[in-house]
Amino acid sequence: MNPYRKDFPILATNVNGHPLAYLDNGATTQRPQAVINAEVSFYKTYNANIHRGLHALSQKATEACDATRIKVQKYIHARSPEEIVFTYGTTHGINLIAYTWAEANMKAGDEVLISLMEHHANIVPWQQLAKRKKIKLSYITLTKKLTLDYAALARMISKRTKLVSVVHVSNVLGIENDIAKIISIVHKKSRAKVLVDAAQSIAHIPIDVQKMDCDFLVFSGHKMYGPTGIGVLYGKQELLETMPPFLTGGDMIISVEKFATVFQKPPARFEAGTPNIAGIIGLGAAVDWIQNKGLRNLRKAEAALTRYAYEKLLKVPGLTIYGPRKRHGVISFNLDGIHAHDVAEIVNRFGVAIRSGNHCAMPLHRRLGIVASARASIACYNTKQEVDTLVRALKEAQKIFK
Ligand SMILES: Cc1ncc(COP(=O)(O)O)c(C=O)c1O
Repeated sequence: MNPYRKDFPILATNVNGHPLAYLDNGATTQRPQAVINAEVSFYKTYNANIHRGLHALSQKATEACDATRIKVQKYIHARSPEEIVFTYGTTHGINLIAYTWAEANMKAGDEVLISLMEHHANIVPWQQLAKRKKIKLSYITLTKKLTLDYAALARMISKRTKLVSVVHVSNVLGIENDIAKIISIVHKKSRAKVLVDAAQSIAHIPIDVQKMDCDFLVFSGHKMYGPTGIGVLYGKQELLETMPPFLTGGDMIISVEKFATVFQKPPARFEAGTPNIAGIIGLGAAVDWIQNKGLRNLRKAEAALTRYAYEKLLKVPGLTIYGPRKRHGVISFNLDGIHAHDVAEIVNRFGVAIRSGNHCAMPLHRRLGIVASARASIACYNTKQEVDTLVRALKEAQKIFK
């Protein structure tokens, strides 16, 4: 019996007359009852704006948000809670860096390096920056095995490189990039900063930003059993302190004159306006849930099921899996002669939720020579039975398209 399922009420749902087999965790995970309760309890018993009120509800809400900041700090082993900035998600965090640190520290002719396996969230902000500031955007290529080409990175890096922004775990290939190795290569030849997109790793891999020695790291609450609309940007304190604000307005100021403003120190400087208070509280509950279960236990369960799913899918005739065997719980594939959207639609008839399309990674799909793929992605609550249902449903799709 999977010990985590009972915590997720949605998993008892039926879809098209079948038990839901939710294998779309790369897009968003489900929420445990504890996270739902935390948000409901906020709205039912202490809903108030934070930082602004001296009354009891406002103080309680403020304390709950402060507590989440500390929980997140501990979860990723940041040096201090001041290094934790609440954002609306990974995309917001990357844009924040592009519009603040990069705007202030990069000039025409400088270079941003990203990899060919990035999500659009870690591509488009750099394209826009390149246009605004005449900056060069370059791609670290992939090896034949589709892993990051570290030798190519070593060749590409130069004094002009000011930022290397890479994904920790690919949302298409499930590959984990060796961030420590990337940082050591980068620092041998340059003083470039390193930004890590941890959207797909945050719920699955223990992260220690101090050991990793990354400069920035971003992730979303909704991919770690938490709410949507809340995310985190980690930044080394000495960097955050030098950065200008991104969005401006209330809460991020010390004083406002008619024509001038003194900004707060980080993290408040980067948190303009009323934040997603319920989301922050829900994120705190999600971190608690993961810590209570033990990230290592969750990871072990996911790793075993990912291996099982990989082997099962590999045996389906006419099925191609992209990327190496060694991976975290993301498996993208195609069935010969059937469009990925048709695959996803047919398995849905059997209650199976998977993703289809380019998964916001069009340059990677082009590198793979395809326009779309189907993607099954695994979380701690998934089971062998669900994988078996997926495999049966794929065989039905093949019968339909014969
Ligand atoms: C690797 C990666 N980066 C960034 C994102 C964007 O996350 P969000 O939409 O929560 O901002 C995703 C979402 O799928 C992702 O998988």
